[in-house]
Amino acid sequence: MKITIIGTGYVGLVTGACLAELGNDVFCLDVDQSKVDILNSGGIPIHEPGLEDVVARNRAAGRLHFSTDVAASVAHGEVQFIAVGTPPDEDGSADLQYVLAAARNIGRYMTGFKVVVDKSTVPVGTADKVSAAIAEELSKRGLKDAAFSVVSNPEFLKEGAAVEDFMRPDRIVIGHDRTPEGLQAYAQMKKLYAPFNRNHERTFWMDVRSAEFTKYAANAMLATRISFMNELANLADKVGADIEAVRHGIGSDPRIGHSFLYAGCGYGGSCFPKDVQALERTARGYDQELLILRAVEEVNNQQKHVLGKKVVARFGEDLSGKHFAVWGLAFKPNTDDMREASSRVLIGELVRRGASVAVYDPVAMTEAARVLKLDFADAPVLLDRVSFAESPMQALEQADALAIVTEWKAFRSPDFDRLKAALKNPVIFDGRNLFEPQVMAASGIEYHGIGRSILT
Ligand code: NAD
Ligand code: UGA
Repeated sequence: MKITIIGTGYVGLVTGACLAELGNDVFCLDVDQSKVDILNSGGIPIHEPGLEDVVARNRAAGRLHFSTDVAASVAHGEVQFIAVGTPPDEDGSADLQYVLAAARNIGRYMTGFKVVVDKSTVPVGTADKVSAAIAEELSKRGLKDAAFSVVSNPEFLKEGAAVEDFMRPDRIVIGHDRTPEGLQAYAQMKKLYAPFNRNHERTFWMDVRSAEFTKYAANAMLATRISFMNELANLADKVGADIEAVRHGIGSDPRIGHSFLYAGCGYGGSCFPKDVQALERTARGYDQELLILRAVEEVNNQQKHVLGKKVVARFGEDLSGKHFAVWGLAFKPNTDDMREASSRVLIGELVRRGASVAVYDPVAMTEAARVLKLDFADAPVLLDRVSFAESPMQALEQADALAIVTEWKAFRSPDFDRLKAALKNPVIFDGRNLFEPQVMAASGIEYHGIGRSILT
């Protein structure tokens, strides 16, 4: 099938590359010339395991193209995926300007029937806005009856496992309407996704609004589990219980399940924070307060300060002259994405209290340098207190303590003797609960996990 992907970011690039891998002829459009140039010269602009190979293989096979040419991209695809960003606007609602700009471009250049797929995470009712934007552009061209249908096909991939998630989805959600055009779109989407449904049917067909809602419900539920566990972990610290033991104890109940119960220093990334906010704002538009989600958001904002608070409790409010190592900068392992990463809050707090920090991440160093510059735009001189280490061990040299923010595999079994020798004080603040408090105590390391202050 001929496919166009509008927006070649995390979701667009993965979707385009994976659909090409299945034999489709895919044209990826982006407004960012530098991104398109990187892709056309054989590189990829993001770190995502396995993606570079899929992109290279399909480019070489002539099934995957990258361009900034809007007219050519609209002409190419019988199915047009909109996979542009939907960042929060000033009040936290999803900003639809990029989605609607993409829709208008489709209306401006389309000829013949098009299936328009909302792949971006968009509030309930957006498909109607996309339809209206396309129809308006068509009518400017005097093409009142040109046929198209907008379907909702939200994406559930996780960064760091995006290719695997896309190729082996646990579900595919598609919302379409029941007009003749909607049924034609249904038939084309069914054909496109047939390779994913060979062994068993994974597609849930529904109406468009329910599909749009399903995406926010999934992210809101996952974020809720995390904030719930984080709040309990903070209490566990006070009462002397181990949140890790509690996690095992409740996760074994199949009604609860084991996933997404890990307490830590808060969730980050481009999705949970913005989607929780956007769903809350949608509800307000209908005179409803989503009280649980308000709490989920508030708990998470506070949880990003949990490591900073533990450092202050141990070293005092004034951290002048203190030096800290920070391991892990990306919002989660296996990505270089720093959007809403908890490391940014911790580094800001330490440096603004007078400390210096040596930071290390296996892949996010360049991105970290870029975003920290923005974070310290109000006081660029503070950036001089941040140094970028070349290895985890180098970051530790002469540090008063180590703070771990992201659970990269490389941090899970360090040489504790070398670690102790490098640090000025053998103190670890572990925002991802990588180690066992008893083992740390036996090794002579002062260990501060999240919800792990067991009374021994
Ligand atoms: P991103 O910022 O990585 O990529 C968006 C891309 O769209 C950028 O390259 C931008 O230049 C391009 N763009 C903007 N306007 C355009 C236009 N008019 N025409 C062509 N290109 C345009 O965003 P992302 O992380 O891929 O997220 C995209 C959407 O998918 C969001 O709604 C997000 O919530 C959702 N989503 C993201 C993930 C994820 O893991 N990142 C997972 C599921 C869903
Ligand atoms: C999340 C969802 O998992 C995807 O299904 C969804 O498609 C995506 O958002 C989206 O809509 O964009 P992602 O943000 O890439 O994916 O990463 P997650 O693995 O969900 O992690 C998000 C954050 O939650 C990370 O900061 C992680 O450290 C944190 N987390 C996760 C916890 O603190 N505890 C957990 O138990 C799990």
